[in-house]
Amino acid sequence: MAKINFTSPLSQVLKKMITRKNPDDALAKAESGGLEKTLGVWDLIILGVGAIIGSGIFAVVGIAAAGSPDGTSPGAGPALIISMVVAAIACVFSALCYSEFATMIPVAGGAYTYTFATLGEFAAWIVGWILMLEYAIGFIAVACAWTNHFLQFIKGFSNILPAWFVNPPLWLVNDFRSAVKAYSAQGIDYHSVIPSIAGIPICVNLPAIIMIGITTLILVKGTKDSAKMAGLMVAVKLGVIALFVLAGMFYVKPENWTPFAPNSLEGVFMGAFIIFFAYIGFDALATAAEECKNPQKDLPIGILGSLIVTTVVYVLVALVLTGMQPTSGVAIPEGIFKAPMAYAMSAVHQNWVAGLISIGSLAGLTSVLIVMHMASTRVLFAMSRDNFLPKVFQKIHPKFNTPHILTITVGIVGILGTLILDLNVAASLCNFGTFTSFIIVCVAILILRKVDPDRPRPFKVPFCPFLPILGILCCGGLMIFSMVIAKGDSAILSTEMFIVWVIMGALIYGTYGYQSNRKAEILVENNEKIAGKNEQIEAGIK
Ligand code: ALA
Repeated sequence: MAKINFTSPLSQVLKKMITRKNPDDALAKAESGGLEKTLGVWDLIILGVGAIIGSGIFAVVGIAAAGSPDGTSPGAGPALIISMVVAAIACVFSALCYSEFATMIPVAGGAYTYTFATLGEFAAWIVGWILMLEYAIGFIAVACAWTNHFLQFIKGFSNILPAWFVNPPLWLVNDFRSAVKAYSAQGIDYHSVIPSIAGIPICVNLPAIIMIGITTLILVKGTKDSAKMAGLMVAVKLGVIALFVLAGMFYVKPENWTPFAPNSLEGVFMGAFIIFFAYIGFDALATAAEECKNPQKDLPIGILGSLIVTTVVYVLVALVLTGMQPTSGVAIPEGIFKAPMAYAMSAVHQNWVAGLISIGSLAGLTSVLIVMHMASTRVLFAMSRDNFLPKVFQKIHPKFNTPHILTITVGIVGILGTLILDLNVAASLCNFGTFTSFIIVCVAILILRKVDPDRPRPFKVPFCPFLPILGILCCGGLMIFSMVIAKGDSAILSTEMFIVWVIMGALIYGTYGYQSNRKAEILVENNEKIAGKNEQIEAGIK
């Protein structure tokens, strides 16, 4: 049998690709020249709830309950509460794994950093790349949802606001694909209405772009300020959700809860996949680990605490919403798909509550935007520190102590994203990215327990390996289930885009990431040689 040559160039390359990073190096790098430590436990819970409660519960929940309007995915009906719990369970296993990692390696980068410590360079790059689907593409999804809610909100002022403002042209509030779809639904040829420059049609989602500009400015100014801002938004959104539950429970009709699961288990699991989007965000806390005053104690409380608060809130909303409005068996009104809570309140003539809910949802979406934007920059910051991205991205603003160049770059990428993606495609892509990163974090916990059992673990996942394995099965199962069950343009497009995204990531690693890491290694070796020579010279002089 032919022997494998372990010194061949190919095996050298493979060896480099699976080289793991010593967590102590990551910690040392973070100590020298890291980010400012300003976040306490309350800041973390606020950031967590700020990151989690947003378009999922204010918008997507309608589709999870009633199914997609075009009938391509079944709804859970009143069994939405079961879907909520299934999605929360899928999250909790990963949340425990995130907590163990975040307390063990409290540096910027979250799942990306953990993968580097367990599965090596190539897997880390792919995870960093996939995390961009979760944070940066999720950020675009929320920006698109912001536009929808804003348009809904200003419609309430049609008596006092000018008509051009309340009903702007579709090409000014949509990406190209959605604008064309909306125009053709009205029987209008888009060529006749969408303006063009040099033959290129111009569609800009203006409200989303303005919001991204605002979050960019807030984040450049500082993490602590952003946490304060997110705190205000969290108070507003929790306040309006409480108002919905308290006012809405008087309008619950128990007959709306039957049939409980109109689309049986298929509807329940599809509902869980869709509503999973509403839970995304707690993991973003792990990316801010380097900015925590006391990560070992505070991060697990922040991560698990925000997940528990959210689950309780979501189950209450699901109970009241499905009790107030029929979610199966009748023609479902459009309002349920766009802004279900506000719609349910206007349907019982509580227009002032509906108005307040609209304001709360705008605040909720803004806080999610802030945290997702921040999380994208922290992952990219860690990747730049590992030579996967140009060094310029590591620059910290001299006055505000924030990675301003990265923050602005992510803002620009987000703006470009709003030109081509809509809420549905971006949210599904975000779900795929998040499921993948959750699975990898669970796998990474299992590996690090084996290869580095003695590393201090201030927080440990209980019942290891069972809980991480359950996390892998739940996330993997929901992801594959949705790929098999969901039909329709948007579902197919997001599955295809996910596959293309992963392949693109591998190509960029091959053509850029791998090379730049080798160059950095040569630089370090040369510096070490020079330092060694200097020491010899100094010893000779003495
Ligand atoms: N969980 C976040 C939201 O619902 C992504 O907007």
